[in-house]
Amino acid sequence: PVPPVTPQYRPGYHFSPAAHWMNDPNGMVYYQGTYHLFFQYYPDGMTWGPMHWGHATSPDMLSWQEQPIALFPDELGWIFSGSAVIDKDNTAGFGKNAMVAIFTHHNDPEEKKKTNKHQYQSLAYSLDAGKTWTKYKGNPVLPNPGIQDFRDPKVSWNEVAKKWIMTLATKDRITFYSSADLKSWTRESEFGAKLGAHGGVWECPDLFPLTLNGKTHWVLIVNLNPGGPNGGSGTQYFIGSFNGHQFTPLNEKTKWADFGPDNYAGVTWANTGARKIFLGWMSNWDYANQVPTSPWRNATTLPRELGLRQVGSEIYLTSQPVKELAKLARPAQTLSKLTVTKSTDLTGPLKFSGDKFSLKMSTPELRDFALVLSNAAGEELRLGYDAQAKNYFVDRRKSGPMGFSDKFAGRHLTPRLATTPGADLTLFFDATSVELFADGGLSVATELFFPSKPFTTIRLESAAGMTVQNLVYNQLSSPLLKM
Ligand code: FRU
Repeated sequence: PVPPVTPQYRPGYHFSPAAHWMNDPNGMVYYQGTYHLFFQYYPDGMTWGPMHWGHATSPDMLSWQEQPIALFPDELGWIFSGSAVIDKDNTAGFGKNAMVAIFTHHNDPEEKKKTNKHQYQSLAYSLDAGKTWTKYKGNPVLPNPGIQDFRDPKVSWNEVAKKWIMTLATKDRITFYSSADLKSWTRESEFGAKLGAHGGVWECPDLFPLTLNGKTHWVLIVNLNPGGPNGGSGTQYFIGSFNGHQFTPLNEKTKWADFGPDNYAGVTWANTGARKIFLGWMSNWDYANQVPTSPWRNATTLPRELGLRQVGSEIYLTSQPVKELAKLARPAQTLSKLTVTKSTDLTGPLKFSGDKFSLKMSTPELRDFALVLSNAAGEELRLGYDAQAKNYFVDRRKSGPMGFSDKFAGRHLTPRLATTPGADLTLFFDATSVELFADGGLSVATELFFPSKPFTTIRLESAAGMTVQNLVYNQLSSPLLKM
């Protein structure tokens, strides 16, 4: 049966395909004023199937224009996840400034299954800024050495090695390869068989430098499914050094880029200079094929600018919503020096309306509190802080009908890493999602919810009493919806 369409669940400033299935963002690359987003796409259905690379473009990563499909399955297989680069110096010989996609061909017929050699890396290139694509005739460029899971190449130019470095997910570890021309690849080293979280298979890695106090550190992102911190899919990362050959972590601690259940397969944009911008798939393999939207399934997260921050002796990755979001903000309603007691209704004071908005909140002393969104159907979404456990939480157990999956309901915890008494929280809501950025992006949680009717009331609760220095509410305009 064809499910009824759900325009009320359509995100207004997060990319989702007009119709059909999407999963991972792929090949994000900035070129000549345009942000390109490719994505795992199945244009013939609303569940995962033979993978293509869909394509969308944007001037700001918020207002997206869907483009014709970039890569179709071929005789070598389906087109799995991967990356794209701008080959400024024409190292591959496809042309100066060619946009080159490096992706996994996935070929799963029985005979390939027996040999385990069913995933290998291939190239395609575009000489017209991503409009039309040609597959390289020498594909695959990196054959399978006999590993069941051998995929998701993330390639970038490495200034130290003066070569392209490919970061590849190889089952339970990352393998690094190098190349001078994108076509012939040499194995350099591997990382992680005995480190990090291993509740599932390692997928969609990324490797890039960030600076902290003038010192360069390398961040290795490793997506993991299942085994995420709140069940199902999750994104762990390591901080260390990369000498052009090998990655060495600073320590063995497992860290997570996002504790919410709904940020997976995220990697960063290529060609954005010193700015490192991350984008994830706003879903979880636990229920991505069942979420109650139609005629599409799934969307991306907000683009997030990454940074590093030291807390005690640990260095952490920070994620902040990109500054471009300020353009969507309608005039603010600001409440100052608010004393929250047991329950303080904010619906009237904020002139709360609509399901696309941001909330910024700062407090000189973080105490137990909950922000509660609710509707006339008795559904509610609660999020807040548990001071004793030092956890932020998002509780979606009563946020709407959940018959589509028994893995969806939950109260999910995000550890607070900051040690300051005061806190700042930024929340972005977009129809069916909330993204929480706390303490300058040290604690992040992304969470979906599907209420049967939009939430119409908002209140703050604090049994212990909490002072909110400033609460700023902005409705956000929706560049993706025809109003
Ligand atoms: C991650 C993933 C990748 C793979 C793609 C297939 O979500 O499993 O490892 O390339 O999805 O669609």
